[in-house]
Amino acid sequence: MGEKLPEAPVVVLTGAGISAESGVPTFRGEGGLWKEYRAQELATPEAFARDPELIWRFYAWRRQLVGGCRPNRGHMILAEIERQLQPFTLVTQNIDGLHQRAGSKNVIELHGSLWGLRCTQCGQAWRDLAVPLKPSPPLCPNCGSIARPAVVWFGEPLDPQVLDRATEACSRAATMLVVGTSALVQPAAQLPLTAKRAGAQLIEVNLESTPLTPHADLALSGAASVVLKEWWDQVRN
Ligand code: OAD
Ligand code: ZN
Repeated sequence: MGEKLPEAPVVVLTGAGISAESGVPTFRGEGGLWKEYRAQELATPEAFARDPELIWRFYAWRRQLVGGCRPNRGHMILAEIERQLQPFTLVTQNIDGLHQRAGSKNVIELHGSLWGLRCTQCGQAWRDLAVPLKPSPPLCPNCGSIARPAVVWFGEPLDPQVLDRATEACSRAATMLVVGTSALVQPAAQLPLTAKRAGAQLIEVNLESTPLTPHADLALSGAASVVLKEWWDQVRN
């Protein structure tokens, strides 16, 4: 009690930009997923209720796409930072699972996971890495009802426990790195500001400026894999 902790907690918030160099499309940029597809038709609970097969085709395609991608150097460096600096929390808006595949351990998935499924009736939740899923749409192993992807859709709230864990980590952060997010989607975009208010140094890594840039203590412009490597080479020495 009363002792000063030697740790300097690091929190990272990532968005689609960290996975762009792995070949996973972003949402809002050139060729972004929400530009090519009408999101409201494919990522809402109403769309799923109307046509679960169509929505499952969309998610089957995304699972196949991501299944063929590999974590890139940006993911690897974040996993390396976690091995070197503790406590460390990685909060991601991504559902691709590439952080875990790169070796990150303490990962909070704000928007769920492409690899997670949840029963629409009994709430049973499980993971399935199979590509393709059989049958499709997949069925609950517990009650046989149709399953849905365990992701957050437009108009749905985040899991409050997941959001609480992320907020808690941010409110203790000494350093907050924000990588590859347009910082437009709430409540994720609020998290860096929570960290900043609590006294964290806020560092942003992005190809372009975002609504967060004016709040950043350091705005590093460039591709995540390149900029993170440069930053980490400086910090570790
Ligand atoms: P966006 O597509 O909105 O933004 C991607 C950001 O990454 C942009 O600011 C790009 O400038 C940046 N970027 C692209 N390539 C990069 C690179 N190689 N290095 C660094 N930065 C790069 O994606 P998110 O901010 O993740 O939510 O979108 C947030 C949420 O909106 C998603 O989680 C998803 C979507 O609706 C749900 O589906 C619930
Ligand atoms: Zn069930």
